[in-house]
Amino acid sequence: MIGEWLDIGWLQEIPVRGSRTVPVEGGEEIAVFRTGDDKVFALVNRCPHKGGPLSAGLVHGHSVACPLHNWNIALATGQAKGEDKGCTPVIPAKISGGRVLICRASTLKAAA
Ligand code: FES
Repeated sequence: MIGEWLDIGWLQEIPVRGSRTVPVEGGEEIAVFRTGDDKVFALVNRCPHKGGPLSAGLVHGHSVACPLHNWNIALATGQAKGEDKGCTPVIPAKISGGRVLICRASTLKAAA
């Protein structure tokens, strides 16, 4: 049986205030972020502005700054903050027993 959550590895494997990417076959790459307070968030790895790779951005608080034009994207909602408008799809993510899990169904939807 296929579980509801996809195990992508240990929390420690993601740098603090960093990210790792998860390839999605036939779909868009997912960026999984670890914040300074050890929370995890996952977004499609595409800035809502011009598609910048959010995984290469700087994580601060519960936001990531896009490396291309410095838009700030809220990790929990995928929404651009401040004056900027746009939204990146969010993938539910959680930590269980030190492992990082992302929602398999959302992964498939992101790939569609
Ligand atoms: S592409 Fe991300 S801010 Fe422009």
